[in-house]
Amino acid sequence: MTKGIILSGGWGTRLRPLTCTVPKTLIPILNKPVVERQMMLLKSAGVEDVVLAVSVMADVLKNYFKDGSKIGLNIIYTEEKHPMGTAGALKLAEPYLKEDNFFMLNGDVILNFDFSEMLKAHEKYGGLGTIASKRLEDPYRYGVLIIDNKSQRIEQFKEKEEYKPVGGEFNPMPINAGVYILEPNIFDYIEPNKKVSIERDVFPKLAEEDQLYNFEITGIWKDVGKPHDLLKGNILYLKDYLKRLGGNKENLIDETLDIEGRALIYPPVAIGKNVTIRKDCILGPNVVIGDNVYIGKGTTIKDSLIYNETYISQNVSLEKTIVSDNCLIKKGVVAQGHDTALIILASYVEVLDHLRLIAPMESSNPLTVCHHEVVKSSLPHYEPEE
Ligand code: GDD
Ligand code: MG
Repeated sequence: MTKGIILSGGWGTRLRPLTCTVPKTLIPILNKPVVERQMMLLKSAGVEDVVLAVSVMADVLKNYFKDGSKIGLNIIYTEEKHPMGTAGALKLAEPYLKEDNFFMLNGDVILNFDFSEMLKAHEKYGGLGTIASKRLEDPYRYGVLIIDNKSQRIEQFKEKEEYKPVGGEFNPMPINAGVYILEPNIFDYIEPNKKVSIERDVFPKLAEEDQLYNFEITGIWKDVGKPHDLLKGNILYLKDYLKRLGGNKENLIDETLDIEGRALIYPPVAIGKNVTIRKDCILGPNVVIGDNVYIGKGTTIKDSLIYNETYISQNVSLEKTIVSDNCLIKKGVVAQGHDTALIILASYVEVLDHLRLIAPMESSNPLTVCHHEVVKSSLPHYEPEE
């Protein structure tokens, strides 16, 4: 029986401060961790045993999934004291995966396709590995696959920064979607007790040896490792979910919603359990709200994610903002991010009345507030003008 391994041990630095308290792969996509969504896909392809390769915040992951019985899987953990790289982590799981071919996943990508189709393709190709790919117009942030279109054999694997397009222009290219099917002899290519990258040290070699094949995936795909992609990924997943539900539903609103009067809702919007919305609010488009959230009257939220247990007072305006669990946003607060610089409030943040958090237009870094901080003056701070 084919097993699975999911890499879940990176630092998640690009998502700080969200990842200061929650490992990247436990960050919710529509209220369920991205890695749990992957586990469900593995399960529907018949996988029963999953190795979760943990390192950073290992205990948080172990506490969340335990032995996996709650979600109907058998979960085993391998733990690196310090991250050993993507192949180093895989090597530790050799005792569990040496019998048969297995799925390997980067734990921070959302996708939705039939894994059993990929397994069929892999068995047909007969290579040592099959890599799922997605054709993207901006391939430079990912591993790029150079493919022989006729046979689907991967001729070259170029990890990010190693791919230099001819003429300097990036065209749509198949990129490494972070899902592989590998045969157990992959382990012969990984030196033990060493930090090894599967993308930089193993795949290029296997491509040279004609051992790798491409499986182009259909459907949604997004690496949610950066704030803007996390926001986009949630909305992508929401739209796809609504599509799968059928019936032209534009929003996903839990029946427990307690709403006072009318609210203007621009789809798509998702609202979790036990949410209260007071009158004259404007929500959407592109808003995901978790469970047990309170939204005071006259508040406007657009292009934003609000996690669980957060209290947002009246006349607040949030745009391109991620608000983590248990925050308290007091009345009249304005948080305005933009495409390349979102506003991120980590868990238990409190923002005092009428403050303005505005991501500077010239910035490409998010404007962030760390967990448990009380914001007492507007951000950023500017020196008074003469
Ligand atoms: N256990 C363990 N140990 N996990 C790790 C380690 C490690 O040392 N390093 C990274 N991971 C996990 C991360 O938690 C994440 O789930 C996954 O491996 C991929 O690492 P990222 O840091 O997110 O890599 P990336 O997004 O820059 O690039 C990778 O993913 C792209 C697709 O999303 C590469 O595989 C690219 O080739 C690929 O295109
Ligand atoms: Mg990633």
